[in-house]
Amino acid sequence: MEFKEVVGRRRSIRYFQSWRRVEREKIQTMLEAARLASCAVNATFLKAIVVERSQLDRQTLDALKTPVSALNIELAPVHIYTYIDTQAFVGAQGRLRTLVDVGALNATHGWSHKFVDEFVWPNILKPLADNATQAQTVAAAASDAGNAICQAMLAGVDEGLGVCLSAFVPDPIKKVVNPPDHWLPLWVLLVGYPAESWEGGGQRPRPPLDEQFFEGKYGNGFKADPAVTERLKAAKMIQAPAPLPWRKQEIQALARMFGLPE
Ligand SMILES: Cc1cc2nc3c(=O)[nH]c(=O)nc-3n(C[C@H](O)[C@H](O)[C@H](O)COP(=O)(O)O)c2cc1C
Repeated sequence: MEFKEVVGRRRSIRYFQSWRRVEREKIQTMLEAARLASCAVNATFLKAIVVERSQLDRQTLDALKTPVSALNIELAPVHIYTYIDTQAFVGAQGRLRTLVDVGALNATHGWSHKFVDEFVWPNILKPLADNATQAQTVAAAASDAGNAICQAMLAGVDEGLGVCLSAFVPDPIKKVVNPPDHWLPLWVLLVGYPAESWEGGGQRPRPPLDEQFFEGKYGNGFKADPAVTERLKAAKMIQAPAPLPWRKQEIQALARMFGLPE
């Protein structure tokens, strides 16, 4: 699939074919996409543990659910539990030196081993590494993890899967997957073949471009060029907005199939 269409087709899918196994190679593809995401100081803050829902006993599965993610968690055959590694800055000095060695960070931009060792590490990174909970560290970690998760989600969509990032209760799964104590629980990325149409009733509402993005200064909304909008529609990045006319009937049919309240 073309990139723009992948972006356009992604929806949060909440009805999964719970009975259908997801091929391991597709999960690997999603993880590779996450691994290749841009990451702050080449330190990988995102860590994740893949679990097949069928491996979880009923008590654990129920204990994981939150009021806003219960059915998502119940139906998704694959759960990818994501965490922020609060120690990811440790070793960043060496990783930056490696980026210098491979020509990603260059003398043209002021980079050298000396710059890493004598300026960047002691003045910027070490203070962050020493205080894993300070706002700047958390902001770097959350952005880094979000980047990587987003790439995994898009790769999943490209593989024909449905994905939904969801909240989970950390303690019950901690007992099963045993993450290190310095990993902070983030979200569970739920994966499976959609039981609803991949359209999910249409592209979900978003504010117009000029309400979210600005040009030059705040208040000066970024104006969309209608010709570009048309081009993005043709490339299937911008798609028919929700609700599609048959969405209510689709939900009713899904409710009957899964035995859920309508
Ligand atoms: C960080 C994050 C957390 C989310 N948590 C939940 C959740 O707990 N339960 C849920 O049903 N959807 C969750 N979502 C999905 C959003 O509600 C979703 O963005 C929204 O339904 C519509 O957008 P979309 O369909 O284009 O993804 C989450 C999304 C993000 C990015």
